[in-house]
Formats: sequence, C-alpha cells, structure tokens
Amino acid sequence: MIKKPFIAANWKMYKTTGEAVSFAQDIEEMIEDLDVEVVVCPPLTAIKSVSTIIWQDKPNFKLGAQNMFWEEEGAYTGEVSPLMLKELGVDYIIVGHSERRQYFAETDAFVNKKVKSALAHDLIPIMCCGESLERREQGLAERWVNGQIVAGLEGLSPGDIERLVVAYEPIWAIGTGRNALPEDANAMSAYIRSIIAGAYGDELAGQVPILYGGSVKPENISDFMREEHVDGALVGGASLKPDSFAKICMNSIV
Ligand code: 13P
Repeated sequence: MIKKPFIAANWKMYKTTGEAVSFAQDIEEMIEDLDVEVVVCPPLTAIKSVSTIIWQDKPNFKLGAQNMFWEEEGAYTGEVSPLMLKELGVDYIIVGHSERRQYFAETDAFVNKKVKSALAHDLIPIMCCGESLERREQGLAERWVNGQIVAGLEGLSPGDIERLVVAYEPIWAIGTGRNALPEDANAMSAYIRSIIAGAYGDELAGQVPILYGGSVKPENISDFMREEHVDGALVGGASLKPDSFAKICMNSIV
C-alpha cells in the first residue's frame, strides 16, 4: 500500500506575521498538487493571516497550532483555548512537544488533558513523545516512550484513536543536525504502534499516522519515508524556508 505522506511544519517561535504570509505565498505553487497532507503550525500571532488571507479553501493545506490550554475559557492569563483556535480555522494541535515539557513544565497528565480537550473540540492532536540522550544511552528509551504514550492516551475511546497523530521526536535529535537512524525511528514507531494495538487492536493502531521528528531535511526525508512504520515527519528548522520545506514535501513521496 502506498501511504500518503503527512508532513507537518513546526515553526516554533519563529516568523512574524509578515514573514509567515510571505512563506505561505511562496510555497503554495510549489506543493499545491502534491498528494501530501501538509500541516503548517505557525506561531499563534500569524495563524489568522495565513488562514484567512492565503489558505482559505485550499484542501491540500492544513493549519495547526503549537499549543493550547484544555479549558474553553476562564481566568488563565496568557493561554488560548480550543474554541479560539477552531474559530481561526485550525485543524491540528501539537501537544506535549519536548520543548513544552522541558521549558514549561508540561507533565504527562497535562498532555492527556490537552489531547482529550482537542478531540472534544474537533481538533486533531499531534501528540509528541521522545527520550533524552541520557535515557537512550541507559537503554531506557522504550520504557520512557511507553510511559508517555500510555499516560497521554489514558481514557481515550476507540473513536478518539481514529483521529490521533503521534510524533516520535527523540530530544537529542531536535535541532542538533543529528537525526535518528531511519531504522531506529522505524523500530520506535513500530513499538508505539504495538502499544496502541495492545489497548485498541491492530486495525485502529494501523490507522494512526506516526511521524518522526528531529533534524529532518530534504536530504534524509525519503529514507524515513521508506520505513514501514514512519508515516511522515514533524519538521522544525528545515520547515522555515519555503524551498527546503517544499523539497521535504516533494521528497516524502517514495
Ligand atoms: P528540528 O527539525 O529543527 O530538529 O526540530 C524538530 C522539532 O522539534 C519539530 O517539532
């Protein structure tokens, strides 16, 4: 079966609104006709412009946000709610990125609440997991990822699993230029799928797109996409330039 690649750009805290709009204009023609699920996750401030000015009614392009709070409204200074994101035309939400866990003290319990809230508001969570270098060197990578997956998916129904995306992003590979070996990414993705299969069955687990993230670039994306259990990529640095992101999308078709 030829899988449809799923390529998501995580811009992190890069790009003003002007820069984001210019990127969206530049990339549109380059990848418009590709059979790839393309999701761009700009910073919050740029989402509305990209959505309403540029990408409205473009079925090939989807918008994502990088974070949200789980409540619909309330006295939560600085936070943004799923309802607010929905209104902007957002379809996907990155949950539990390692940078949020590391710098903003997000726990597995927070991640689980956000996953549930996203699903309840018709947003598709891209739930991130991944081990540190220290844990990998200690041989604890699988145990760590298992903990994140089990806790993150706690209480989800089979219907929820149908709308879930998981991203495996080993922390040591993020922004370092040192990507995981494609076979190692595949092994961890297969392991993640087996955890989901254990709880929800093979058929549902087989439908969950599992992305790899960590120093993905135009030169290595095809190697990842050739792996059985890698369905796409979550791209940071190499998603910031239109040329390089477009090449990643093109080269993801193998
Ligand atoms: P890089 O592609 O810059 O390594 O970042 C990966 C990432 O964190 C995507 O969420």
